[in-house]
Amino acid sequence: MGADVSQETAAASAGSAESLTVRDNRTGQEYDVPILDGTIRAADLAGIRTADEEPGVAVYDPGFVNTASCRSAITYIDGDKGILEYRGYPIEQLAENSTYLEVAYLLIHGELPTKDQYETWVHEITYHTFVHENIKTFMQGFRYDAHPMGMLLASVGALSTFYPESRNLTDTSIRHMQVVRMIAKMPTLGAWAFRHAQGKPYVYPDNELSYAGNFLAMLFKMSEQKFQADERLIRALEVLFILHADHEQNCSTNAVRSVGSSQVDPYSAVSAGIAALFGPLHGGANEAVLRMLRRIGSADKVPDFIDGVKNGKERLMGFGHRVYKNYDPRARIIKKAADDVFEVTGVNPLLKIALELEKIALEDEYFVKRRLYPNVDFYSGLIYEALGMPVSMFPVLFAIPRTSGWIAQWLEMIDDSEQKIARPRQIYTGERTRDYVAMDRR
Ligand code: CMC
Repeated sequence: MGADVSQETAAASAGSAESLTVRDNRTGQEYDVPILDGTIRAADLAGIRTADEEPGVAVYDPGFVNTASCRSAITYIDGDKGILEYRGYPIEQLAENSTYLEVAYLLIHGELPTKDQYETWVHEITYHTFVHENIKTFMQGFRYDAHPMGMLLASVGALSTFYPESRNLTDTSIRHMQVVRMIAKMPTLGAWAFRHAQGKPYVYPDNELSYAGNFLAMLFKMSEQKFQADERLIRALEVLFILHADHEQNCSTNAVRSVGSSQVDPYSAVSAGIAALFGPLHGGANEAVLRMLRRIGSADKVPDFIDGVKNGKERLMGFGHRVYKNYDPRARIIKKAADDVFEVTGVNPLLKIALELEKIALEDEYFVKRRLYPNVDFYSGLIYEALGMPVSMFPVLFAIPRTSGWIAQWLEMIDDSEQKIARPRQIYTGERTRDYVAMDRR
């Protein structure tokens, strides 16, 4: 019988086949490590050591490629089968039948709202879309060419100074207030960052409009009394918002949880998520798709481009995914939304190139063998461009809906008794215990 790594957890799996026997070849000692939900606890490995005074075995996993950081009941992904579910509801059904605010409620509360709950929720969000005038002054202080994502990140962080009570994480009614404020104010801040770059006056929210309709109005309203966007565009934006609302433990969600684990206020935690999303490897792939389509120039150049990809000269942007090894379910829905948008705006000329690329790539052995399929970013950039968005706004359009996911994950973390402040280990590779050398002797 092997030595127990952790008596508590080992006892839980005693007599069960749900354990891993590890033999430490340095000592010949064997250990039973319990397996729970397909995982072992990294802390259970700490007891595997060559001597009492030596450190135990740790797990080295840069990028968390195979490390679960939490238990979560929010979003389920099966990358092999191309399945994405929020709280158990397939993304296809939500995109077909739901509104973004209903999905936000589902992510945060765990259940679809009743009619009364939905109406209260929509009312709360609608009546918190305004921001303090000093936030407006703060935003106006940015340089004329400030990146809208940088403005959004700073402004959300600044909200924590307007709501100091948000640091109280134990009072559920205070917490609820911040959830409402954050979801409500995000479109206002995003739209103002856009107007700022255009040198246009900021437009105040219109409480008679829907969440997506109000966002479009704050982006595009000029001198007209009332701005009413085309219903098809509003619906397409709602669908895009639903598709981007959550995606389990991605880079920005991990940032929100990691920063939030210090028990900082939620505005500061969400601004960390926005910072993570700003990076080109996370929120910027759809911009890369547009640049690629422009460079290809016309559909007849697609075969040459594909040859270049196959020869390793470059990547087909908008294809492939770390998790999905099948058609990204969001890409299928987005393609339909693109058709609806182009019906209003006219077809984006780059669409022809995109369709030709997809057709050739899906039949080509190189892509089939590597299980490379279109991902969410392959078509989203085309839609955003058709809506009149510059590429600098693309990550902002991602951050607005992802806020509900970040908040749901943050709330789940706050209430999870197993969570601790995020504090990884390291493998130290530097010098040890050197004597200080005076500057004139270096
Ligand atoms: N074009 C051509 N070849 C590719 C591509 C691509 N887009 N993606 C992967 N491959 C090849 C890669 O060269 C490798 O081939 P080989 O085995 O011969 O070396 C194989 O497929 C496996 O690739 P990988 O880099 O090990 O896969 P990964 O899981 O580390 O990368 C990825 C995932 C998304 C970074 C990658 O597919 C990629 O760079 N795609 C293009 C960028 C893109 O569209 N990113 C947006 C992702 S969706 C965003 C979101 O969900 O938030």
